[in-house]
Amino acid sequence: MAEVIVLDTPDDAGRFVAAHIAREVRANPEFTLGVATGSTPLPVYQALHAESEAGTDFTRLTAFALDEYVGLPVEHPESYRSVVDREVTVPLGLDPARVHVPDGSVEGIQTAGARYEAALEANGGVDLQLLGIGRTGHLGFNEPGSSFGSLTRVKTLTERTRIDNARFFDSLDQVPIHCVTQGLGTILRARHLVLLAFGEGKAEALAAAVEGPVSASMPGSAIQLHARVTVVVDRAAASELKFRDYYQWAQDHKPDWQGI
Ligand code: F6R
Repeated sequence: MAEVIVLDTPDDAGRFVAAHIAREVRANPEFTLGVATGSTPLPVYQALHAESEAGTDFTRLTAFALDEYVGLPVEHPESYRSVVDREVTVPLGLDPARVHVPDGSVEGIQTAGARYEAALEANGGVDLQLLGIGRTGHLGFNEPGSSFGSLTRVKTLTERTRIDNARFFDSLDQVPIHCVTQGLGTILRARHLVLLAFGEGKAEALAAAVEGPVSASMPGSAIQLHARVTVVVDRAAASELKFRDYYQWAQDHKPDWQGI
């Protein structure tokens, strides 16, 4: 079962996760971080920036994004290439050559998935993958029904996800319908998964992912197949968890040597 850590606020969660990543990077400067986009990981990126200002050197870090919209020019401010550059590459001083985002261009679409998988393999995979969860239960953009063995490929977003993501655009019409996303099989290869969720709106999907039956209808439940998963959430997102007293008990008795 995943380790579930419930903290008071998203900023607390961001500092907690960033402190862990910074320790890992100090021990291994060539660390590979899997980055998510959307609003959930922003407190982690802010806290990583603070770790960088406090002296952790991230310049040799490699980053792989989870997904990209199809057909949105890379220079569009909401392309995930732009978001990753703005929130991660520039503030942490990463080498842009080590920052990978799937190719969402229409011209490259036939080979985008295979090229991304080859880049991941050539890099030796991902050490720690940050994940958010959609209200449909998606990880990356693996909407319900995605195979647990799936690799990076084109997917069609649900209307629910397009409506949720319309807040980043001027109107719903501008939200692309297609994306290139790491598959659930790709995500499961990362050596450590860190799933973040904040707010009441995520409580139901989070509980289904962490405690519900393992099913392709709830892509988030794929985390139950992974040997090393840390779930870091605020109290609102934790509100539907059946075993939250146990998670709290485990936290209260967590030995210093245990790490995450
Ligand atoms: C983003 C991603 C998605 C988001 C999810 C939650 O790269 O792959 O799975 O993590 O849609 O989005 P937010 O964080 O905006 O609620």
